Amino acid sequence: MNAEHAADGSSRRAQPRARRINDRCPSRVLLYGRAVPDADGYFSESIASRYDESSAEMFESGFVAPVVDFLARLADGGRALELGIGTGRIALPLAARGVPVHGIDLSRAMVARLQAKPGGDAIGVTIGDFATARADGSFRVAYLVFNTIMNLTTQEAQVACFSNVAAHLEPGGCFVIEVMVPDLRRLPPGQNAVPFHISQNRWAFDVYDVATQAMSSNYIEIIDGRAEYSYFPFRYVWPSELDLMARLAGLRLRERWDGWTTEPFTSESRQHVSVWEKPAS
Ligand SMILES: C[S@@+](CC[C@H](N)C(=O)[O-])C[C@H]1O[C@@H](n2cnc3c(N)ncnc32)[C@H](O)[C@@H]1O
Repeated sequence: MNAEHAADGSSRRAQPRARRINDRCPSRVLLYGRAVPDADGYFSESIASRYDESSAEMFESGFVAPVVDFLARLADGGRALELGIGTGRIALPLAARGVPVHGIDLSRAMVARLQAKPGGDAIGVTIGDFATARADGSFRVAYLVFNTIMNLTTQEAQVACFSNVAAHLEPGGCFVIEVMVPDLRRLPPGQNAVPFHISQNRWAFDVYDVATQAMSSNYIEIIDGRAEYSYFPFRYVWPSELDLMARLAGLRLRERWDGWTTEPFTSESRQHVSVWEKPAS
């Protein structure tokens, strides 16, 4: 049995819809190899070289188009700032829609892929930590997608990120985050791990520490008769906690949706797209 299907599939709505960010893609399991942070953070050369292929479904137009529509509406003719711009999955099609986009990213390896793509030379990138790095000018919209807020593994860093974004936004500008709702409803008392992939030669599971909100995704794969183990650290964060971080930064919640096509956010939502606004005065 594939536990990924049993765990994730049973409560999904039946209608066809874009892939969700907390869906698990078997093809991603262990394609990233060992998670050894270097100057590029967890998105080193070996990960960057496979990123687009391993996240292929996230690059499909059916997934990307609603994101671009949503962000272009908020940009409304102004500039956009992507935190964790990566290889340009969203930035490039957004720029192709006429929105001037600038990015911040730690990983030169990821950014090199972006810059090598058609249109990549039109996108400026600041290399640095998006919790603190400063890009020139101000922006109508800033966005942080694909769970990347969770790559900041402390509450302080997540708070600093909101503060940094607020400093980049023009009055009336918006900050957009796409992130999963923590999956703690899958944890029975006494259990701290949630499997999301089980097959003959691959096993993957998330581990939660509910005291600290630390979590990690863990991957074990048998390759040539040997077990390989990989680990990616995150900090999970609640929607209400993000709202408080926004308030600390002088932003206020404007919209919260279940997804980019503005389905209502409900108690069954497993992810959200939230928009906070910098007051116009
Ligand atoms: C999951 S990828 C997402 C890339 C792109 N936004 C997308 O949707 O495909 C996360 C990106 O965030 C970057 N990143 C993670 N933590 C970061 C940090 N603290 N500061 C800057 N970039 C960071 C990584 O280098 C990587 O390029």
